[in-house]
Amino acid sequence: MDRSICAQRGRTLLSVAKENHVPVHFECDGNMTCGTCYVKIERGMENLSRATEEEREHLNRRDLTDAHRLSCQARLLGDVEVLVVS
Ligand code: FES
Repeated sequence: MDRSICAQRGRTLLSVAKENHVPVHFECDGNMTCGTCYVKIERGMENLSRATEEEREHLNRRDLTDAHRLSCQARLLGDVEVLVVS
């Protein structure tokens, strides 16, 4: 199901998902210990905050591509299109 959601700049994808009842799986509620909250960025990767080395390590452990981000770490800077995969 496609949904369009407006959200404030600077918020994380996970906080926006939770507020809008989008079913992103997560276990540590944003502490970056579980690595389960990943999503695929279909468009607009440049409109997200940069991934830290720690986030990249989580994604690499799961063999995820550069198109993925941990939703609890990626902050909105503009329009993005996100596929919920976790
Ligand atoms: S919620 Fe655990 S790493 Fe994002």
